Amino acid sequence: MIACGHSLVPMMKLRMAVLSHLVDLRDIPDLQGIEIGADSVSLGAMVTQHELIAHAGLGEAVPLLREAALQIADPQVRYLGTLGGNVANGDPDNDMPGLMQCLDATYQVTGPDDLRQIQARDFYESAYFTARADDEILTRLMVPIPAAGTGYAYEKQKRKIGDYATAAAAVLVGKGFASIAMTNLADMPVWSAEAGAALAAGDREGAVSAALAAIDPQEDMRGPVEFKRHVAGVVPRRAIDRALSRVAGCGLRGRLMSKMHVKLTVNGAAVEGLAEPRTLLIHFLRESLGVTGPHVGCETSHCGACTVDMDGRSVKSCTVFVAQAQGADVTTVEGLVNADGSLSVLQEMFREHHGLQCGFCTPGMITRAHRFLQENPTPTEEEVRFGMAGNLCRCTGYQNIVKAILAAAEMMNAQDTPSSAEGVGQQKVEAAE
Ligand SMILES: Cc1cc2nc3c(=O)[nH]c(=O)nc-3n(C[C@H](O)[C@H](O)[C@H](O)COP(=O)(O)OP(=O)(O)OC[C@H]3O[C@@H](n4cnc5c(N)ncnc54)[C@H](O)[C@@H]3O)c2cc1C
Ligand code: FES
Ligand code: FES
Repeated sequence: MIACGHSLVPMMKLRMAVLSHLVDLRDIPDLQGIEIGADSVSLGAMVTQHELIAHAGLGEAVPLLREAALQIADPQVRYLGTLGGNVANGDPDNDMPGLMQCLDATYQVTGPDDLRQIQARDFYESAYFTARADDEILTRLMVPIPAAGTGYAYEKQKRKIGDYATAAAAVLVGKGFASIAMTNLADMPVWSAEAGAALAAGDREGAVSAALAAIDPQEDMRGPVEFKRHVAGVVPRRAIDRALSRVAGCGLRGRLMSKMHVKLTVNGAAVEGLAEPRTLLIHFLRESLGVTGPHVGCETSHCGACTVDMDGRSVKSCTVFVAQAQGADVTTVEGLVNADGSLSVLQEMFREHHGLQCGFCTPGMITRAHRFLQENPTPTEEEVRFGMAGNLCRCTGYQNIVKAILAAAEMMNAQDTPSSAEGVGQQKVEAAE
């Protein structure tokens, strides 16, 4: 059977699947469509990952599905890749099997004689082996709609965009209830009843320990076992924290972690959200707000990749608690564009003078250079080097970075304009919560 072939065709190329005939499932009406009922959602096996993302009602009913689908592969794969193919394949790398176990989904399979319902939690036997018989087709998936106010999160660690998970965790948490499943940490998805029970009882670390006790990672191109065990500890903690921050009105949030309400201005837009007091500004910007211009480099205040402008000063946001930014006016590289969205003079000069190679340090470089030119609009080369000393370029592209800043200064002085239209035309951001 071929759904869209995005797992099957690569397996055929690798001679892992040698098939003389293929039955195309595309045009079978019973395998199509998303139906939202009172208590559950029925998803046709041929529903694509793109459809999961684009369907407005589904995003409201089961937001965890959408959040996970967005982290699968890339737009091209998501346009074609089907939910049924993803879960039926039994590939432990795939994201949807663990997700379906977290959601306690039921699979409907149809054979020559009858129709069976199999719980997602009972479906997987080992890598590529499932409870589906060879003469059965997976037709639909039934997903219970979580109670209103249920917290959810899908956290996936991958080597790069488009990659399968090194490790991923799906979490649902509500009043007296929690469910945790992990992906790519054994030869099948790992759902741990003990982990869910611990989290439901408010024991976050107990939940993580129980989840880790159930995994069995193997060394592969994504890293050795020790590394995978480490990542396996990170992803459920992140998922649990994010899920808890989304729990509405069940009192769990306050019991499990003392989060503070932070309010600040980012790139001209007022934003607010919940954050633990230990949350660093860089993580709040990137993970809670989705403002990913500032980068995490050394995380020790040395490289400057995370530089942002805070109340008119350049700061390394890896070394500032978001609590310290309470009420502050923060500008990131996204906020330095002109009012019409075009590049500022400074950004344009970085482009023109090749002030970037891999680009990793560039957001921090430009944000620091922006403030530096406010402080010193007519710098000498030596002053530029001194003023930019807190920003490292691992590609060692300093010559062109300095040239770009000097050229920007010259042009701005000729035009009598600041390095960007500060305060206007800045990209609006909204807190994820
Ligand atoms: C570059 C790339 C990156 C990817 N990254 C990710 C990722 O990060 N996360 C992730 O989860 N997936 C990822 N995938 C996999 C992708 O999501 C696949 O599309 C999906 O796993 C399989 O869906 P398909 O429709 O292509 O299935 P197919 O390849 O057509 O089928 C896969 C298997 O399932 C069987 N099958 C299909 N439908 C049914 C059915 N209804 N009943 C019974 N058996 C059936 C087929 O016979 C086949 O054995 C990636 C794929 C590619 C190519
Ligand atoms: S990541 Fe902040 S200085 Fe390096
Ligand atoms: S341009 Fe590559 S790290 Fe600076």
